[in-house]
Amino acid sequence: MLVRYKKTYEKIAMGLLSYMPGEKNVKALQETIHHYETTDNWLLYLWKKGDDFIGLLGLEMEEDAYTLHHVSVNPSFRGEGIGKEMVMRLREQFPEKTCKSTEQTAAFLERCTSNEEGAD
Ligand SMILES: CC(C)(COP(=O)(O)OP(=O)(O)OC[C@H]1O[C@@H](n2cnc3c(N)ncnc32)[C@H](O)[C@@H]1OP(=O)(O)O)[C@@H](O)C(=O)NCCC(=O)NCCS
Repeated sequence: MLVRYKKTYEKIAMGLLSYMPGEKNVKALQETIHHYETTDNWLLYLWKKGDDFIGLLGLEMEEDAYTLHHVSVNPSFRGEGIGKEMVMRLREQFPEKTCKSTEQTAAFLERCTSNEEGAD
């Protein structure tokens, strides 16, 4: 299930964020987390399975859309459909908004959408 980020999840969120390209060093990670903590329309979610947080989604909310900036899944749980399920839950959460991608998240989002449309 999707859980909104809070300060007590900082360490686990930084660990999950570090799997994103460009978020490799501690300073960059701290800046990204700080941005999510202090910018009202930037929202961070964690994916909780049982007692564990194993995935992360970060988005920038706009009026009619949101941009997915960060998506990551703990490597131990990849290839099981969790990334796709997180994206689907997010879209259910904001059904009236368009989901936009960045250069980094475009290929994965397109993959999730193409499967949905039965293009496979
Ligand atoms: C990208 C990531 C979140 C995918 O998580 P996951 O739980 O393994 O993904 P899923 O199992 O739900 O995969 C869903 C589909 O997306 C495909 N896919 C996985 N990673 C992909 C990627 N980086 N680009 C394009 N497609 C991708 C899968 O092959 C799968 O396709 P299928 O349905 O035809 O089998 C995960 O690999 C990750 O954390 N990577 C490191 C962070 C990163 O690089 N993020 C930027 C890319 S979003």
